[in-house]
Amino acid sequence: MMCFAPTVGIAKQLIKLGVDALIIEGHEAGGHIGPVSTSVLAEQILPHTTEVPVFVAGGIGSGLLMIHYLMMGASGVQLGTRFAVAEESIAHINFKQAFIKAASKDAIPTAQFDPRVPVIPVRSIVNEGVQNFTTLQLGLLAQLERGTISRQEAGVKLEEFWIGGLRKAVIDGDIKEGSLMAGQSVGIVSEIQSVKDILRDLIDVGIHEADRILSLIDICD
Ligand SMILES: Cc1cc2nc3c(=O)[nH]c(=O)nc-3n(C[C@H](O)[C@H](O)[C@H](O)COP(=O)(O)O)c2cc1C
Repeated sequence: MMCFAPTVGIAKQLIKLGVDALIIEGHEAGGHIGPVSTSVLAEQILPHTTEVPVFVAGGIGSGLLMIHYLMMGASGVQLGTRFAVAEESIAHINFKQAFIKAASKDAIPTAQFDPRVPVIPVRSIVNEGVQNFTTLQLGLLAQLERGTISRQEAGVKLEEFWIGGLRKAVIDGDIKEGSLMAGQSVGIVSEIQSVKDILRDLIDVGIHEADRILSLIDICD
């Protein structure tokens, strides 16, 4: 079984529980995210984990980062955002075009304004849906202050808001109100490519970067 680890603590617990492999996923990733950046997780976990293979996810848009994580000891990498725009992806053309237009700064995590009503952070491209979610959250907190709603009721209303949200964007093409889950690497996505071309590009850029690093080592020797 392969499991996601968004922190060192969870990675250690999962290894103790006997997982077959770990995917460490950082804050830059698309969708539901943890609190720690991919680069810090990689530094904390890759050099010290020998028990199971470790795969790295979050913020990888090109072969450049891919090769660096592999050289740090990763067994592989996982990319979501770049492949969401692949020719073979079933996503609606509106969804793919929203990714192509977006800059990295547009993919932000949902905010939590009060720990009494927790929000699991989801990174997505900002649209009306995200703004409506913020308005709903602030309204529910005001009701909580007035004592006209319980914490549990407020939590349920927030959970309900995004039900079907990803489907609305990915399948129906509603990019105004649907959930445009995307990582910060969305800023690197500039065209619709076949999976074959994306893999070719990742490998070519990765090999070029590996050659560059090896030539630096030669110079040092
Ligand atoms: C549109 C989209 C939907 C995703 N849905 C899920 C999901 O249902 N379950 C899951 O574990 N991860 C999901 N992810 C996260 C990916 O599996 C992957 O770990 C992540 O996208 C890697 O980071 P990147 O987006 O920076 O490449 C999703 C990512 C995107 C972009």
